[in-house]
Order: sequence, then C-alpha cells, then structure tokens
Amino acid sequence: MAKINTHYQKLQAGYLFPEIGKRVRAYAAAHPAARIIRLGIGDVVLPLPAPIVDAIKTAADEMAHKETFRGYGPEQGYDFLLDAIAARYRSQGAQVAPDEIFVSDGAKCDTANMQEIFSLDSVVAVTDPVYPVYVDTNVMAGRTGPADSEGRYQRLVYLPTTAANGFDPPLPEDRVDLVYLCAPNNPTGAVMSRASLARWVAWAKQHEAIILFDAAYEAFVRDPSLPRSIFEIPGAREVALEFRSFSKTAGFTGTRCAFTVIPKELKARDDSGAWVALHGLWNRRHTTKFNGVSYPIQRAAAAVFSPEGAAGAQANIDYTMENARLIREGLGQAGYRVFGGVNAPYIWMQVPAGMTSWQYFDRLLHETNVVGTPGSGFGSCGEGYFRLSAFGFRENVEEAVERIRTKLPA
Ligand code: MLT
Repeated sequence: MAKINTHYQKLQAGYLFPEIGKRVRAYAAAHPAARIIRLGIGDVVLPLPAPIVDAIKTAADEMAHKETFRGYGPEQGYDFLLDAIAARYRSQGAQVAPDEIFVSDGAKCDTANMQEIFSLDSVVAVTDPVYPVYVDTNVMAGRTGPADSEGRYQRLVYLPTTAANGFDPPLPEDRVDLVYLCAPNNPTGAVMSRASLARWVAWAKQHEAIILFDAAYEAFVRDPSLPRSIFEIPGAREVALEFRSFSKTAGFTGTRCAFTVIPKELKARDDSGAWVALHGLWNRRHTTKFNGVSYPIQRAAAAVFSPEGAAGAQANIDYTMENARLIREGLGQAGYRVFGGVNAPYIWMQVPAGMTSWQYFDRLLHETNVVGTPGSGFGSCGEGYFRLSAFGFRENVEEAVERIRTKLPA
C-alpha cells in the first residue's frame, strides 16, 4: 500500500505566490476591464542585456557542429563559469575557490535542498518574516511538528526581525543547529551590517552551528560599507555556506542559473561526533540528483561578468532601484511607514491600522488594481505589513504609486 509523506499534510495553505496568483486571476476574470499592475512576486521584466543573449546564441551555434557540440557537462559547472564567479568574489574581498562553487538552476532549489545533508533532528532557526521556502522544505522533510493557529511550526525556532529591532535578526536564546539568514532580505529589504554578520559568525562558531546564507540579492547593495557576502567576514568559511543567483542580478528568472558556495573548511559532526566536511556531502548529493545547467545558459551566466554584460546587468539593477526609490518615497508621501528599498529591490510597508495584510491585499487589488504580497505570507511577524516589489516597468510603478496615493493613502 502506497502511503504519502505525511509531513506534507502539515503545510499551511498553498505556496504564497500561487495563492496570490489564484486571487488575482479570479479578480481579473470578474473584472476584465481592470488594468492590473503586478508588484507582487519579485520577477524581472527587463530584457536580458544584448551581450548575454549573444553568449546564448554563440553557444547554441556551437551545439550545431560536431566539433563544438557538448553533451553532459560537469555537474558542478564549467570551469569558465566557476573561474568567473571566483574572480567576482575576489573583487568583493572574499576568498572562494572555483571548486567550492556548485552551479545550479536556482537559489530556490538550492535553499530548498540544502537541508537534506543535515540530520533530521537538527534544530532549525528562521527569521520571522522569512522567505517561505526555508520553512516549507524543513516541514516536508519532517524536521518540524504541526503548525499552531498563527501558522508557526513546532520545533522550528523563529527569530522575530521587526521594526523594533531594526530588522536585524536576534541571536537565538536556545539551542539552534542551522540558521537561514537572508541579506539583502526578502521580504523586509533590510541588509545585515558587517558587525551583525560578525556576531552571527562568532555565535555559530561557539555553538558549532551552520549559517545558510542567502545572498540572492547582493547585487542590489549600494552602500559600500555593507557586506555582499558572508565570506567577507573573518571566520565565516568555517561556519557558513552561501547561495547566490543570476535571477534578479541579471534577469535570469526564466533562464535559470544560480550557485552555492561550500567552503572546504565547513564541517558538521556525524553520529559518532567526528567532523565531516559538508563540501563532499553536497558534491555527492549534487552529482547524484543533478546533471548540470545547460551549456548555453552557463555561457550566458559567464557573460554577466564580462565588462559589457556587467554594464548591461548593472543598468537593469539601476533601473529597478530607481523604481524602488519611487515606491519608497511615493508611499512615504502617501502617509505609509516604509522600510527597505535602499539596498534591496523590496519595499516593506506597514498597512493602515486595523487591517490585516490579506485585507489590505484585497483592498489594494479591488480599489487600485495593484498587486503586492501580504506580509503575513512570510510569517506571523509579517502580519500588518505588506511587500511591494520594485521589479516592473517604470510607467507601471509610477502609475501604481499614483493610484495608491490617490485612492488608498494610509
Ligand atoms: C519573491 O517574490 O519572493 C521571489 O520572486 C521568490 C523567489 O525568488 O523564489
């Protein structure tokens, strides 16, 4: 008799973004004339820069000739891309060797899958609010108990990151073995300072814990005093791994390419108490379950680091960050309390008093035809907040801000 993985039955509702999509589709079907502006899911809209597209075309042509055709590549990624990524880290003041990098088809998959190499009895901490993938995948694996009425899972440690603590994740008070940190943060748009990351690295060392650091939005950091990689912090290579992505950095949400760095020094204990290097475990997992990102897409990713590709990607980031400024300032003028949007493409705003995040979502959709993401979808501390994404065309962003300002001020 086939039986399901019963842990899936603990999951709360649907995954956040499909749920939003469902509500928006229902509204659009009932109001066909509505001109809906989508600032919900953080999905890029600008076309890939020409040098990156040219790299795909050239690689596709290579695949058309027997002399240059390629079949399976190395599961970890081609050397030309690994070397370019390692050089990028060096330029940011972090030491990462090419063979510590694992190229993949997405940071979502990597952040979801990484938990597999850790013991099922690991105590996992997440910030609240949090990117839901970290939580749901640990629920699926059976590392948590059921959820309570606020949607918080038993045995998961929640670290409230709110306006009260400046959205800086507090260190856990009780035992934690694994912690997911995301900076620049999705959803709050806050960035952890060097001092804050150094505190976490020291904590992880003291407790033999591991930091799973999600740096998918590092390219949006504009303040040079802020770290872009946890590996800029001395000692981090012994306690942290890092996820990065080309999705938001270079417009690859549809093209798919990302990578994870696992330093060779990074170790955790086995059942006998002996230290085991995580690099070898992830390599084993990656080579068993993954056959590598396609050659043309890895060429495209490498082109992001060429001078022309980097300029094109930077121009798109600058465009998005100008959107962020318009949203932040426009909503501020409309009386909203807003956070983020300075070193991150997300604006985190307080909803008017007396409304829940989902009530605000519905009013925003119905009264302004603008779509955002309810803060409670990211955790119970997100209740009363709302996220707007700065990824969008300028004219849509301007119109969305104007509609909110005139039709739904705070
Ligand atoms: C978001 O909107 O939070 C992101 O697009 C989700 C993701 O990157 O998977």
